[in-house]
Amino acid sequence: MEHLIAPSILAADFANLQKDVELVNDSEADWFHLDVMDGVFVPNISFGMPVIKAIARHAKKPLDVHLMIVDPDRYLQEFCDIGANVLTVHYEACAHLHRTLTAIRDLGMKAGVALNPHTPVHVLQDIIQHVDLVCLMSVNPGFGGQSFIEHTYKKVRDLRDLGKGVNDKLLIEIDGGVGKNNWQKLVQAGADVLVAGSSTFNANDPQAAIREMKGN
Ligand code: DX5
Ligand code: ZN
Repeated sequence: MEHLIAPSILAADFANLQKDVELVNDSEADWFHLDVMDGVFVPNISFGMPVIKAIARHAKKPLDVHLMIVDPDRYLQEFCDIGANVLTVHYEACAHLHRTLTAIRDLGMKAGVALNPHTPVHVLQDIIQHVDLVCLMSVNPGFGGQSFIEHTYKKVRDLRDLGKGVNDKLLIEIDGGVGKNNWQKLVQAGADVLVAGSSTFNANDPQAAIREMKGN
């Protein structure tokens, strides 16, 4: 499939959110990536439901919500109600991952699971058929603007092998340090969705940066 670009709103101008939402609407980007951080699972606090609700009022593309929070089961229904289309929880934050992913799907959302850089992809072997998307963290979660961890390419290939014949529709998303210098290599390795925060919003021309990462 053709790869998707999901600009991360974490790098947007929070004082002009509507402007940046419209910028993504009018670009070749495919999804909005929304990073929810609780200051417990990760050492940073970003934004939560009220902000996502406000974004959803203007967004014309699917909302890809990445929960970097402990005990995400408490909020699945709420994120569904405010318009999440893809809901991703962290493997490291879920003691009962099968239950959590099933609940996300039962609510009608795509179920995603994110892996921290140190978590090997083989831990997903017995759950891979119940997952719509795996988000490989290519930085330690918590902050935008960090450098891409090169070991991620190997994880993309390993994950594609893991899903073969069991989940051929699996979407592989890469999150952190993605930009003009590595997007092609990631797509070649088998990535389907590229999250791009700083490389989109810090660019002189964000829409041109998105177009470039789409390969157009
Ligand atoms: C990091 C977040 C990312 C972040 C990526 O914890 O999950 O989505 O916004 O930012 P960049 O693209 O700047 O590395
Ligand atoms: Zn993210």
